[in-house]
Amino acid sequence: MTISGSQVLILFLILSSLSPLFYYSFLGHKLYVQQYHRVFQKNISILLWHWPFGRSYRLNGNKCLTMYNISHCSLTDNTSTFSTADVVVFHHQELSSGLSSLPLHLDRPASQHWVWLSMEPPVNNANLTQFNGLFNWTMSYRHDADIFVPYGKTMLEREDIGFQAAPNRSCLVSWVVSKYRPQQARAVVYQSLKKYIPIEVYGKWNKKLLPDNKLLPTIANCLFYLSFENSEAKDYITEKLWRNAFQAGAIPVVLGPRRATYEAVAPPHSFIHVSDFKHTADLAAYLKHVAADRQTYEVYFQWHHTHRIKIYTDWRERLCQICVKYPSLQINKVYQDLERWVNS
Ligand SMILES: *[C@@H]1O[C@H](CO)[C@@H](O)[C@H](O)[C@H]1NC(C)=O
Ligand SMILES: *[C@@H]1O[C@H](CO)[C@@H](O)[C@H](O)[C@H]1NC(C)=O
Ligand SMILES: *[C@@H]1O[C@H](CO)[C@@H](O)[C@H](O)[C@H]1NC(C)=O
Ligand SMILES: *[C@@H]1O[C@H](CO)[C@@H](O)[C@H](O)[C@H]1NC(C)=O
Ligand SMILES: *[C@@H]1O[C@H](CO)[C@@H](O)[C@H](O)[C@H]1NC(C)=O
Ligand SMILES: *[C@@H]1O[C@H](CO)[C@@H](O)[C@H](O)[C@H]1NC(C)=O
Repeated sequence: MTISGSQVLILFLILSSLSPLFYYSFLGHKLYVQQYHRVFQKNISILLWHWPFGRSYRLNGNKCLTMYNISHCSLTDNTSTFSTADVVVFHHQELSSGLSSLPLHLDRPASQHWVWLSMEPPVNNANLTQFNGLFNWTMSYRHDADIFVPYGKTMLEREDIGFQAAPNRSCLVSWVVSKYRPQQARAVVYQSLKKYIPIEVYGKWNKKLLPDNKLLPTIANCLFYLSFENSEAKDYITEKLWRNAFQAGAIPVVLGPRRATYEAVAPPHSFIHVSDFKHTADLAAYLKHVAADRQTYEVYFQWHHTHRIKIYTDWRERLCQICVKYPSLQINKVYQDLERWVNS
C-alpha cells in the first residue's frame, strides 16, 4: 500500500468513526451501515418512544450488558435523544391516537430505523393503514418479523432442578381467562368440553382472580391446563403455554395455531392439541385416560431430561434483542403496507 493510500484509509477511518453517515455514503452500499457499529465498537442506541401499556422499567446503567450480557447496546426512553438514536421503537398500543403519537414533526435522521412493535395478534392491532410507509422494521412474536421476540422458547439443555411429573393432584383441568367472548373458538371448545369433564376456571371472567403469586401453584394442582389463545393466529403462542402450563408443570391442552407450529417450538411430546380430536368428547375421554394412567401421563414430562424452556417477559430483554439482530437486518426496508403484513 502506498503512503497516500494509507493516508486515505486513515482519513476514511477517522471520518467514519465520527459519523456512520460518512461510512455509509462513502461506501455507497447499504450493506455496511450496520457493520459500522461493529467495526468501530460503537453503541447501538435504541430509543423506546412509549413504554408498552404505560409500565416502565429502569434503564439506568448498561442494562443489556449487566442483565443479558449483550454489549454495545444502549437503551433509553429519553425522547430528547431522538436525533442521535439509531433505532426508535414504537409499541402499537400507544399509537391509538394515530399519527399524532409519532414524532413526525422532528427531523428523522437518514440512517435511523423505526420499529413497529406488537406482541398482540392481528385482531388487536387496529388502524394500521395510517402507518403505511413509516416503519422500517417489525418486532413481534411472528417468526417472519424483522426482530423475532417470542414469548418463550425451548432450549436443548437439561433442566437443572428436579421435576415431579405426577404428584398427587386434586384437580383434573384448570383454565384462567380474563376476557371471555362467547364467539371465540376457545369459548366454544370450553363450553363443549365442560359437559364431559370438570374444569376449574379462574380469572376476571369468573370473578376468581388469582394474585400473581397464586397463579402457578393453583395451576400446579391440576393435571392439565387449557392453554387456549384468545385468537388463532399465525405463530401466536403466548405465556399461556410457556408460563401457565410448562412452568406450573401441567400438561398443556393447546388451542391456537396449528399443531405443526407448536411442534416447531415446544419440547417434544409436551402438549395435547385440541385439533387432534374430532369431537370434544374424544378429547375429554383422552384426558381422563391420561389422568388414570401414570405412565402415559409421565411420557409428557420426559422432555425435562433433555430440554428446558426459557420465558421472555421483560421488555428490556426484548429491546436488547434488537442489538443482537441489528447487523443482519435489512437496510432501506420500508413497510408500505403494514396492515397487509400484519394480516398475512
Ligand atoms: C454504551 O451504552 C452503555 C449503556 O447505556 C453505557 O454504559 C456505555 O458507556 C456506552 N458506551 C459507549 C462507548 O458509548
Ligand atoms: C458474555 O458474552 C461473551 C461473548 O459476547 C462470552 O464470551 C461470555 O462467555 C458471556 N458471559 C456469560 C457470563 O455468559
Ligand atoms: C435526555 O436527553 C437530553 C439530550 O441528550 C439530555 O439533555 C437530558 O438531560 C436527558 N434527560 C434525562 C432525564 O436524562
Ligand atoms: C381507529 O381510528 C378511529 C378513527 O381515527 C378511532 O375512532 C378509533 O378509536 C381507532 N381505533 C383504535 C382501536 O385505536
Ligand atoms: C400420593 O398418594 C398416594 C395414595 O394416596 C400415596 O401413597 C403417595 O405417597 C402420595 N405421593 C406423594 C408424592 O405424595
Ligand atoms: C426508513 O423508512 C423511511 C420511510 O418512512 C425511509 O424514508 C427511510 O429511508 C428508511 N430508513 C432506512 C435507514 O432505511
